[in-house]
Amino acid sequence: MKRVFSGIQPTNILHIGNYLGAIKNWIELQDKYSCIFSVVDLHAMTVKTDPKTFGDNILMMAKTYLAFGIDPKKSLIFRQSEVPAHTELTWILNTIAKISELERMTQFKDKAKQHKENVNMGLFGYPVLMASDILLYDTNLVPVGEDQVQHIELTRTLAERFNRLYGETFVLPEPMVKKHGARIMGLDDPSKKMSKSSPNAGNYIALLDDPAVASKKIMRAVTDSGSEIKSGANKPALTNLLVIYSLLSGKDIKDIEKEYAGKGYADFKKGLAEVVSGFLSGFQKKFNVIKDSDVRDILADGEKKANEIAERKMRDVKTKIGLTF
Ligand code: TYM
Repeated sequence: MKRVFSGIQPTNILHIGNYLGAIKNWIELQDKYSCIFSVVDLHAMTVKTDPKTFGDNILMMAKTYLAFGIDPKKSLIFRQSEVPAHTELTWILNTIAKISELERMTQFKDKAKQHKENVNMGLFGYPVLMASDILLYDTNLVPVGEDQVQHIELTRTLAERFNRLYGETFVLPEPMVKKHGARIMGLDDPSKKMSKSSPNAGNYIALLDDPAVASKKIMRAVTDSGSEIKSGANKPALTNLLVIYSLLSGKDIKDIEKEYAGKGYADFKKGLAEVVSGFLSGFQKKFNVIKDSDVRDILADGEKKANEIAERKMRDVKTKIGLTF
């Protein structure tokens, strides 16, 4: 069975872009592949975290996976920080990663601009830690949103380089990016992706937004000129809203366009607000009944198994390098 690996940073706000670009696709993969989903808490530390809330955010992230239907009987769920091999392999890959390669990463350039006061080594080396996450588990496929593809390409470069230097060790992973939903745009600005680091809460629909608040955000979302409900390159704001509508309702974009033919933006937004609130209430109902103690048990079990796989890989890596005698 092919291996799938993916992860999300446990920042406090997870938005529908994270769901539509990533988690939604993970659920469908569980029956076909051997799946591993990590809460990548060490990655979250590349921007400032608060010790008072960090632990809760990590727990909430794992709970979010479960509420969406990641099934611990089928998939492995674990915290990155509980598997020391991730940081160990990162050091080794750091010695073959080139500074010029990391400087080209667009996420680094964006985040360095956003957090000018805290451009730390971790932020710079972030993609190397991500490469370690993926390579430790002989991953074939990495289901992510479009913004992560460059990191997976770097992962392949590092794996190829290591294999060339030390002999065949790592599997080369492929990104798995869906045609629709891989880049959900901000509600306040359709030229930028929906982002949890946006200073404007109107940019995103958070998964834990009160459905009434989310509806207001939809009603206030930026639209394009004209009044027709139609997707297309000249209507980036509406196209984004149509993609969200389609993915959350399961209806085809063409059918939604037909449904709203002759109606205006306000009617369409009202319909979308209903779809979004229904989705949020359904998710939140499931999220709220999952017990913290169950999440802890599931993580402990996942961490035991992840450590076994990762330690085996590290032994191979160390032997190949000649760190053993
Ligand atoms: P993170 O935590 O920023 O985002 C998690 C997932 O959500 C996707 N995503 C989006 N998809 C569509 N539209 C958007 N506006 C949008 N914003 C975010 C991301 O592409 C991602 O799939 N580096 C990763 C976490 C990571 C990882 C890994 C992923 C660490 N190690 C190993 C895969 C494999 C990240 O920052 O995701």
